[in-house]
Amino acid sequence: MTQKSFNIAVAGATGAVGNQMIDCLEERSFPIKTVKFLASKRSAGKQIRFKGDMTPVEELTADSFKGVDIAIFSAGGGTSEKFAPCAADDGCVVVDNSSQWRMHPDVPLVVPEVNPHAVSGYKTKGIIANPNCSTIQMVVALKPIHDQYRIKRIVVSTYQAVSGTGKKAVDELFDQTRAMINFLDYETTVYPHRIAFNCLPHIDQFLENGYTKEEMKMVNETRKIFEDDSIRVSATTVRVPVFYGHSESVNIETEKPVNPEDARSLLENAPGVKVMDDPKNNVYPMAIDAAGQDLTLVGRIRKDESVDNGLAMWIAADNIRKGAAVNAVQIAEILAKEHL
Ligand code: A2P
Repeated sequence: MTQKSFNIAVAGATGAVGNQMIDCLEERSFPIKTVKFLASKRSAGKQIRFKGDMTPVEELTADSFKGVDIAIFSAGGGTSEKFAPCAADDGCVVVDNSSQWRMHPDVPLVVPEVNPHAVSGYKTKGIIANPNCSTIQMVVALKPIHDQYRIKRIVVSTYQAVSGTGKKAVDELFDQTRAMINFLDYETTVYPHRIAFNCLPHIDQFLENGYTKEEMKMVNETRKIFEDDSIRVSATTVRVPVFYGHSESVNIETEKPVNPEDARSLLENAPGVKVMDDPKNNVYPMAIDAAGQDLTLVGRIRKDESVDNGLAMWIAADNIRKGAAVNAVQIAEILAKEHL
């Protein structure tokens, strides 16, 4: 029997995440019949290499999705708001990387290692949302512990790479670093302050409650993905001068007693997780190990001595790959195998 193949579109194909999505489709041998690369008018006609052929970028319009089976979007919230419904009206299923649709009650929010069953909820709106990069790596690591010990509370601080902001931010960190080590003047255009040799406790807009939008994404998305609104989450999200790879310090409080050894062995057998936890030999997850690969790295697993039942750990993953492109392509794989 020949394998079924699909007409695929990538919206935002010229961006940092879009580029990785294209690489992932190729690396993972996604069953593709035809492929379309979409971006803004500015990029129309640019060529992108895919499976050895050069394919021209087309301008994204409301008519781009006729005959397309699956469209993976990473072109900003406004573009998803406007064009994802057009694609769905044409019978195309959208996997959207923006935050636009994540909390919509009729849009599933999926991390394939955690809640793959939720994909089937796409039928109402024709859209599936990819969670925030920081949420994805945290829930991949916490899901096995939640299933076994029930997590009641999470306190997380993130150390997020500039690539999460897009290509302009990668350039800004590079330019500022080069300028500073040469005692030259530098410009600050992407972030409100210098990012080189600095940490900014500020990702996305501040809200009335004092948290940022990024922090509240971690709260609300974790609850939606775990299908458990009772979990209490407090997040502090920080931009750090790292190019690729988000790291997180995570403390959890569980209902049932949990010890680090049992948590470590659960995580050693968990899908998508690699335990790197041998501090005596300086082995722990680092952004430089996370970058360029697809697993969520977990280490520094220890008892949180400030509560009765608690653990502390350190988690790192590639924010552009597992935090965005890989997760979206994994969702598309479930659609292709089980639903289309
Ligand atoms: P373009 O390169 O033509 O501007 P990044 O997150 O790295 O900044 O990438 C954003 C992606 O979204 C790019 O591919 C960009 O295309 C695309 N994009 C941004 N705005 C639009 C728009 N209004 N219509 C279509 N694509 C857009």
